[in-house]
Amino acid sequence: MSAKIKKAVIPVAGLGTRMLPATKAIPKELLPVYDRPIIEHVVKEAIAGGVTEIILVTRSGKEAIENHFDAHYELEHRLEKKGKETILGTVKNIIPNHVKVTSIRQADALGLGHAVLCAKNLLNNEPFAVLLPDVLVLDNESRDRNYSFTQLVEAWNKTEVGQVMVERVDSDMIENYGVADLGGETSKPFDSVALKGLVEKPAPKEVPSNLAVLGRYVLPSRVLDLLEKTKAGVGGEIQLTDALDELLKTDGLNSLETDAEIHDCGNKQGFLSANLAVGMRDPETREEIKRLFEMSGW
Ligand code: G1P
Repeated sequence: MSAKIKKAVIPVAGLGTRMLPATKAIPKELLPVYDRPIIEHVVKEAIAGGVTEIILVTRSGKEAIENHFDAHYELEHRLEKKGKETILGTVKNIIPNHVKVTSIRQADALGLGHAVLCAKNLLNNEPFAVLLPDVLVLDNESRDRNYSFTQLVEAWNKTEVGQVMVERVDSDMIENYGVADLGGETSKPFDSVALKGLVEKPAPKEVPSNLAVLGRYVLPSRVLDLLEKTKAGVGGEIQLTDALDELLKTDGLNSLETDAEIHDCGNKQGFLSANLAVGMRDPETREEIKRLFEMSGW
């Protein structure tokens, strides 16, 4: 039986420049999507997949993220005294008791691959997940919440081969992502398919498919050895994609296509669409959003 995925690395050391000025004093990961910070949605997604340790790779000035997952005794005491049980519940039970949040610093912004490598000592040679907190994965409403990430973990459990979640994107957007090369194999939602290559932000002539890597990975610990040898790639950064392209040559690596709604909350359009999409899923606000749209003739 394969080693269970207990740990998830969430890199949070980015400066959030695409969301300035909102992110001047507030970490971008704490901007709210609907009623809670974006990172809380992502942490809950990881926990739904069976993760019991969240490793934040962070930097100075972003301590508020750790505080969000910590106890706040004064606030809890006051809410309790006032009998505000419902709000108290949302503050106290952000994560279940069996889940631990730890953190490690990334002193230099040297890229996603470098951020993951910073967590090496905490990962203890175990397989692990990586979830990028800019990306909100909203699963099809007919399924369980966080179905896609859970399927990614299941695919690892069955194969013990690393898994990378992908989704089809429009051709004019593909150069912003890591892109999957399936060597002509077809892929359909939730089939785990062997990758022939992965390219980070390919030039238009080199785009191997329209399947974009969207920030959810389940990986064997060997990728950390490869990251130690990975040289700076696109944008002068140590790219996780480049280490994965090496990994697949020796250990194999699969892609798992999702049909979830993907919102990139690291830019204004994606942030707005994420808020509207989550709001539309809550019966309390759905009618109001619809009314606003109708009223404004949008
Ligand atoms: C990172 C990864 C890229 C992936 C993307 C998903 O890029 O390097 O492979 O497709 O996240 O959002 P970034 O958006 O940090 O440039």
